[in-house]
Amino acid sequence: MRLKDKVAIITGAASGFGEGMARRFAEEGAKVVVADLNARGAERVAAEIGASAIAVASDVSSRSEVEEMVYAAKNAFGRIDIMVNNAGYTHRNGDMLAVDEATFDLITAVNMKAIYHATVAVVPIMERQGGGVILTTASTAGLRPRPGLTWYNASKGWAITATKSMAVELASKNIRVNCLCPVAGETGMLAQFMGEDTPELRAKFRASIPLGRLSTPLDIANAALWLASDEAEFITGVALEVDGGRCI
Ligand SMILES: NC(=O)c1ccc[n+]([C@@H]2O[C@H](COP(=O)([O-])OP(=O)(O)OC[C@H]3O[C@@H](n4cnc5c(N)ncnc54)[C@H](O)[C@@H]3O)[C@@H](O)[C@H]2O)c1
Repeated sequence: MRLKDKVAIITGAASGFGEGMARRFAEEGAKVVVADLNARGAERVAAEIGASAIAVASDVSSRSEVEEMVYAAKNAFGRIDIMVNNAGYTHRNGDMLAVDEATFDLITAVNMKAIYHATVAVVPIMERQGGGVILTTASTAGLRPRPGLTWYNASKGWAITATKSMAVELASKNIRVNCLCPVAGETGMLAQFMGEDTPELRAKFRASIPLGRLSTPLDIANAALWLASDEAEFITGVALEVDGGRCI
């Protein structure tokens, strides 16, 4: 019960890494707000978790929807201890010049501006409570970019720098800020990252990972669990690679 009595909001929790985190956090005693643009997916995950979870339909790129999500969390569970900015968006792997402006804007809105919206909404609450944890799903793409995902890579680099800067500025409020850097993982976004999902491309990606496999939602959830728990109370400003050695 490493998150007993903690309340966590997890965005992008209707599938993939976020779903893994919601399930793992709940197993360890947390009350979980399963937030996602995909309302039906969020409802499915929350229903499967049971009484310790609620689903909230929320577009993290909208300030008013983020405020409503935070209000719903406070209303349901009375406090907010952990804010996980996990929702993400990418362009398909390919020539950076072929990415249209609308797609670029969506990448920056979901991967960057959403962190600003969530921070503005939760920090005053965490400060009143005496502290909290903010966790973002960044990516190895922000540390060791590959060709083909330039605008996505850059958004994750922004998330890593925002994490470190927020960690310094929020330390005096006892708010820890960290991010995770997963390597390519078995989720709905994988085909976009690879360009298409073929056995050959999977083998190519696996070949760049010393431990010889892609990441799983459970790998990412276990790392998030530790960073969100009091066991990591002296850890802030970290961009933790969960990547089977890919970034070495
Ligand atoms: N899968 C990978 O290879 C990989 C690697 C590194 C980092 N990441 C990051 O992990 C995070 C989770 O992605 P995933 O791989 O689990 O993919 P996924 O597609 O399974 O999950 C992403 C979720 O985000 C939700 N979402 C998208 N836009 C949203 C919005 N505007 N508001 C609210 N929710 C929104 C989607 O509905 C979806 O449920 C993302 O930030 C992604 O960039 C993924």
